[in-house]
Amino acid sequence: RQFTHILGRTTFIAIISGTAAFLYVTQRERHPGTQLPSDPSKKTIVVLGSGWGATSLLKTIDTTEYNLVIISPKNYFLFTPLLPSVAVGTLSPRSILQPTRYLARHKSRQVSVIEAEAKSVDPFTKTVTFEDDSEIKGNTSQTTIPYDYLVYAVGAEVQTFGIPGVQDKACFMKELADAEELQRRFKDCIETAAFPGQQESEIDRLLHVVVVGGGPTGIEVSGEIHDFLEDDLKSWYPELAGRVRISLVEALPSVLPMFSKQLIEYTESTFKESKIDVLTKTMVKEVKDNSVVLQMPDKTIKEFPCGMVVWAGGNKGRKITQDLMAQFPSVQTNRRGITVDHHLRMVGAESIFAIGDCTSTSYAPTAQVASQQGAYLGRVFAQLAKKDNFEKKLIELQQAVPVASESEQANIASEVESVQNQLAKVKLRPFHYSHQGSLAYIGSDKAIADLPFANGNIATGGVMTFLFWRSAYISTLFSLRNRVLVANDWLITKIFGRDLSRD
Ligand code: FAD
Ligand code: NAI
Repeated sequence: RQFTHILGRTTFIAIISGTAAFLYVTQRERHPGTQLPSDPSKKTIVVLGSGWGATSLLKTIDTTEYNLVIISPKNYFLFTPLLPSVAVGTLSPRSILQPTRYLARHKSRQVSVIEAEAKSVDPFTKTVTFEDDSEIKGNTSQTTIPYDYLVYAVGAEVQTFGIPGVQDKACFMKELADAEELQRRFKDCIETAAFPGQQESEIDRLLHVVVVGGGPTGIEVSGEIHDFLEDDLKSWYPELAGRVRISLVEALPSVLPMFSKQLIEYTESTFKESKIDVLTKTMVKEVKDNSVVLQMPDKTIKEFPCGMVVWAGGNKGRKITQDLMAQFPSVQTNRRGITVDHHLRMVGAESIFAIGDCTSTSYAPTAQVASQQGAYLGRVFAQLAKKDNFEKKLIELQQAVPVASESEQANIASEVESVQNQLAKVKLRPFHYSHQGSLAYIGSDKAIADLPFANGNIATGGVMTFLFWRSAYISTLFSLRNRVLVANDWLITKIFGRDLSRD
């Protein structure tokens, strides 16, 4: 009985202290303290972007020593790994967004967050020109500001290879608006297929979804659409659900080239069970209004009727990135993106640091890489601030020498020596990437994971990996608020299913 009593008391104390901690954290998040004002004597770092790289930098950097300006056309951070779940309504769009101001407001010095698109960078005058591209504009909607350091983290855009019809007729899976558009179009296809008197061949066309690209984006989107079909459409559209077809088209001989052979086979067999047709060695040649034109493995050209095409064909550099690189024609020649040195400085432009998908490095363009690079830059700026402070101190000491007495001069000399020693110890270490593994959701409550383990790799797939995938992503979300929203959405979807209404 005594044991039960102790257990009861411990549980009670744990619940009370857990609730108190939760309330404390949420209150601190909502009501941040006062911040230092912007200081013209400090250097200004301008950050372009509010994605993985930029947000990770914002979280890490100590703004005591800098004025920070963030410019991005989106005033939020988007948690891309869960974007395909938004496309079918498993998660609501707001759950995977984190307004940039929530993070900026917690820094020691005020951070200026500007919702605008950078149009050009002049690395010679060290200025950025940006424009308010939103619907509502004031009298001023374009301006140019100077920077001491520029963090260039604008990501990449979708690679369409100029294939006819892709840009105007396909759906993408890059931005939040893409996921919302995919959801709208897919539901429209279903409702149109349900229209009375619809021809049989037209129903089959409308219910055929073609996903292009067997990289992780295409795989995850196919898996999520399949879940929507199995978990919800079968109950609410029983006469149509069995006729929905998903085809995944990939130009290479296999899907997911970055995963181990075992996981590629596992994914392909899971897709086979899920009745997702995987067409490898098949290339999309054109996207038409009601069909997709494919070059088959035997090089013949075939046209397949379909209701919608989802394009997940990879990344390419943004125009602003190409323009910036064009200013250094002799050193910025890699078409994949900006070439950087070991400290992530743009080769040719000392004051520009480039991170994430806009760069061309030996790493894959992933969130993992971009966020580690952002965190690394936070540490680099701390070192640079130390260096600046020591250099300033040296100048002050040297200026004091002519007016100092003999005894004071001896003191100054020893202080100079000490500052020089400390300055010599300020070293910028090169960026080192630590791979934490690759994870992807493949539908049917299954995920695959290639995880580094004791100098080797563990390749695992299945339901347990799916639970690991969910826990890994929920812990990676940038805020408690997002964690609560995502967990809540998963629960609501499990209990009530996905919402079928179309806005
Ligand atoms: P982004 O995160 O794309 O950020 C770029 C930022 O720049 C955005 O805020 C954008 O609004 C802003 N911007 C654009 N143009 C301008 C401009 N002209 N001026 C100013 N700002 C501008 N990686 C993983 O490691 N694991 C995953 O599970 C994973 N899942 C993914 C799922 C999907 C559907 C997608 C599309 C990608 C996924 N990735 C994943 C890849 C990952 O999202 C990217 O590698 C990562 O976003 C790159 O970070 P970034 O900061 O370079 O660019
Ligand atoms: P990707 O570049 O990895 O894959 C695109 C695929 O499309 C390629 O396999 C290519 O062969 C194929 N393709 C291109 N044009 C084609 C055509 N005309 N016809 C048929 N196939 C064509 O692009 P993805 O999947 O968007 O990923 C981009 C980056 O984001 C990658 O680095 C990836 O690792 C990362 N990512 C990671 C995720 C994860 O870890 N779970 C999820 C999503 C993206």
